[in-house]
Amino acid sequence: MCEIRPFKKENIDFIFHLMSEEKNLSALHTNIISSEEWQNIFAKAKGDTDEENFIVYKNDTPCCWLKLNGLQNQNTAWISMLVVSEKFKHQGVGKFAVSYAVEYLTGRGYELCKLQTTKDNLPAINLYKKCGFELTEPKAKKLTFCKKLNNFSFVKIAKENATQHKNLRKVFAKYKIRVLRNHGESPCGKKTFYKLFDSIVSSACENKTKHFIVMESDKDLIGFALIETASTDVVDIPYRYGEINDFYISSKHRRKGYGRILNNHIESIFKADGVNTVLLSPDPVSGIDFWKAMGYCDTGIHQGWGRHFVYIKHLTEKDVEIENTISALVTPTELITVNPYNKAQIKEMHDVWKKYCRENNKNYRRSTVRKMAFKARKNKEVVFMALYSQGRIIGFVYKDGFEMRYGLTG
Ligand SMILES: CC(C)(COP(=O)(O)OP(=O)(O)OC[C@H]1O[C@@H](n2cnc3c(N)ncnc32)[C@H](O)[C@@H]1OP(=O)(O)O)[C@@H](O)C(=O)NCCC(=O)NCCS
Repeated sequence: MCEIRPFKKENIDFIFHLMSEEKNLSALHTNIISSEEWQNIFAKAKGDTDEENFIVYKNDTPCCWLKLNGLQNQNTAWISMLVVSEKFKHQGVGKFAVSYAVEYLTGRGYELCKLQTTKDNLPAINLYKKCGFELTEPKAKKLTFCKKLNNFSFVKIAKENATQHKNLRKVFAKYKIRVLRNHGESPCGKKTFYKLFDSIVSSACENKTKHFIVMESDKDLIGFALIETASTDVVDIPYRYGEINDFYISSKHRRKGYGRILNNHIESIFKADGVNTVLLSPDPVSGIDFWKAMGYCDTGIHQGWGRHFVYIKHLTEKDVEIENTISALVTPTELITVNPYNKAQIKEMHDVWKKYCRENNKNYRRSTVRKMAFKARKNKEVVFMALYSQGRIIGFVYKDGFEMRYGLTG
């Protein structure tokens, strides 16, 4: 996991080594600068309010230098240095540093972020394009890239402003229907979700520990998050923890760093409310990778219809007592009803089913597993369950009016 910290004097040695790496020297068309010279450069820059330096760490090891300048300008700031150490390249560190720079500058009200690179620096060109930067002067000797930064705001929904969020209500209903399907629950119609939205808003307005946060830019909805700072819902433990109930970034705003920005904002709410541990159940289809990138880890607890994964993050310090209490709740094996909407689960079940058919000389058909799951969902007489061991499917039980099958793999 990457973490970014403001530059400190002790980092000069790291910068000296980083900027002496052969590949970095050739990419930047520069020569080695001695350690003493770096000391002088940073001594001169001390107190300069036009620039900020940051160091990215991976597993507590410094791996990248990011420098921003032009901070005295009103509208435009620059990424004036971005260098990743050779053994940390191609691991998303550059992307992490650029999204941090964008987030940092956006949050401080700059309208544009610019940078320059040379035509032969393909890794840098690809990286900046990937991060949404556009080439502004393609014919110039040095390439200049620019990104328009959106100004956005966070609004906490309260009774007075809830009616202004008609658009949010619609988006919320759609999101909730999808999430419930993924979690294996039966969604009802839109109207029911409008009612649910109203009750969530009232509860968030009345309850100090609930926060319904909307992220918007010029009335354009970027996303929302519903959190609880004193939860007891996710796992039954005698400790206070925070919970992220709902989290959404609208599709046109995805992959632009907004998820991380919204997550940082809600983490600051948790911290202000004295919460150190946060739990959540990510959407099993698409959400897990995002939450892992935000520093959440699987607790090993997979509960409920359709298998909710329970993920955990300690915000300020690792809470060993909570970790141990949660570990004690993890069951070695469990039987869970197969959810036809959970693509990851269906895919895993397919593999187990295929193996079972091969071993028992039965015909394997790709579509069968999903059909069986739908049958079990519609008809209470039909049972189709997956046997989990340490988070993986190792067997199944299927029963309807005509037959009962069960199998174990490995
Ligand atoms: C440019 C640099 C900062 C990229 O850092 P990085 O941590 O390796 O980049 P990431 O792993 O975040 O990669 C992000 C994207 O950049 C692009 N990229 C990174 N390395 C690349 C390479 N060797 N070739 C082509 N594209 C590359 C890819 O599009 C990649 O996305 P993908 O992994 O989904 O394909 C790094 O190569 C570096 O430090 N180079 C030397 C210094 C330099 O040139 N700095 C830029 C000055 S303007």
